[in-house]
Amino acid sequence: MDKLLNGRIALVTGAAHPRGIGRAIVNALQAAGATVVGVDLPGAEGLSDIDGAPCDVTKPDSIKTLVDNIIERFGQLDIVVNNAGVGRGAADFMAISDEDWDVTFAVNVRGIVNVCRETIPHLIKSQGNVINTASLAGLGAVPGIPACYSASKFAVVGLTKQLALQYADQHVRFNAICPGSVETQMLDVSLKIIAEAENISIAEAREFESTMIPMGRSGQPEEIAHAAVYLASGMATYVTGVALPVAGGFPGGL
Ligand SMILES: NC(=O)c1ccc[n+]([C@@H]2O[C@H](COP(=O)([O-])OP(=O)(O)OC[C@H]3O[C@@H](n4cnc5c(N)ncnc54)[C@H](O)[C@@H]3O)[C@@H](O)[C@H]2O)c1
Repeated sequence: MDKLLNGRIALVTGAAHPRGIGRAIVNALQAAGATVVGVDLPGAEGLSDIDGAPCDVTKPDSIKTLVDNIIERFGQLDIVVNNAGVGRGAADFMAISDEDWDVTFAVNVRGIVNVCRETIPHLIKSQGNVINTASLAGLGAVPGIPACYSASKFAVVGLTKQLALQYADQHVRFNAICPGSVETQMLDVSLKIIAEAENISIAEAREFESTMIPMGRSGQPEEIAHAAVYLASGMATYVTGVALPVAGGFPGGL
């Protein structure tokens, strides 16, 4: 039987870290038959383990070179997964620095804009699709999450929906995945922020977070990656402009 993504060429950003959501998406797209180019920051841990290239999504020139190379090598681009992201800042709004705001928006929001500008012309040709990794914190205010992160992920959801609307009649789909709490290095950072804010240990912060999740546990990166395979595939040809929570029933916040 044909695999779901046979013959598709995919680009995944933030793909390197061995425990990351991006790496799990690379593996899942490949298992579904796609050829995947994964990119991450120059020198990022794990980058040499994947068919990938260094590319900083905040640098438009570096994205142009990357996309030109993909088109030269494969002749097409069908799937773009904008997964690169940073989590930084503090749970206390007044303790978030200008640099936290600037870096968070440069990577989480403008990074997606930069990649979309360069790839959309190719996606129109292939009638492809884009998946943006947003967050449950992009749908509601979640306790302990820095406001710069939450605001950036709301922006990702808004950007996804606006692009979905603009490009619907050219048959390019745009969807967002909104993970809740997922076992990655970023969760380690997030638990540290919660622990500091609540003056509790990391273990207590983990317990605090788990009690908010109806399924009683954080997710695994693979569980997010399976949603990406579905959205990228021909099983989702009528799905666009969606911000899909993959969060174990975690209802998000306000
Ligand atoms: N882990 C969670 O609980 C969780 C929850 C909701 C959303 N997310 C989102 O999922 C995505 C993946 O996060 P993760 O948890 O796997 O953490 P991660 O830190 O392992 O992955 C993020 C990756 O993005 C890369 N990156 C950062 N800046 C970049 C840049 N300028 N250019 C290219 N790559 C860059 C990092 O090097 C890293 O490999 C992020 O967008 C994150 O905001 C994570």
